[in-house]
Amino acid sequence: MPLPPGPSVTLRGFRPADVPVVAAIVAEALHEHYDPSLYASLSAEWPEGFLLAANAHEVPVGFLLGVSQVEKEARVLMFAVERQHRAQGVGALLMANFLERCRGRGFRRVTLEVRVSNATAIRFYTRYHFSVVDLLRAYYSDGENGYQMARDLP
Ligand SMILES: CC(C)(COP(=O)(O)OP(=O)(O)OC[C@H]1O[C@@H](n2cnc3c(N)ncnc32)[C@H](O)[C@@H]1OP(=O)(O)O)[C@@H](O)C(=O)NCCC(=O)NCCS
Repeated sequence: MPLPPGPSVTLRGFRPADVPVVAAIVAEALHEHYDPSLYASLSAEWPEGFLLAANAHEVPVGFLLGVSQVEKEARVLMFAVERQHRAQGVGALLMANFLERCRGRGFRRVTLEVRVSNATAIRFYTRYHFSVVDLLRAYYSDGENGYQMARDLP
């Protein structure tokens, strides 16, 4: 019998107990290390903007953390899927759901930043109708340039 399409994960909101797993995904996928308190404080203003994809054991395998710092706009601050769970549609599930939540909140635009070398993520975002709107020189701590990408929400 063919497997149903889509990843075998469920979406849910962030819980404080998720911090260690989320931090591990951030370290592996984004090579960043933040103070553990950052996640709860970022989620406080718009809890629905912090989406986790969890496996059958409720363990997060990917997440998208969006914030809203500009009126009617969302910004994807962090987005990552554990390496062994990539290319299975988890990222697509997170992004599609996030964009729906943005529309539900009446946002008109979504922005994000990405390393110019991150071809995989740029291709992913392009598929979701993001396009490059700015070059951010030496945006990253190691000096790499970033692209700001954005899309409107009709
Ligand atoms: C960007 C990222 C979050 C995407 O997550 P993902 O779960 O791999 O995303 P998806 O599986 O939805 O899509 C990725 C690819 O897998 C393909 N895919 C999706 N489901 C698939 C399936 N069932 N079988 C085969 N391929 C599949 C998609 O078509 C897509 O292909 P393409 O990008 O070559 O066109 C992930 O690559 C990641 O964590 N990267 C490291 C961190 C990072 O760079 N984050 C962004 C920082 S700005």
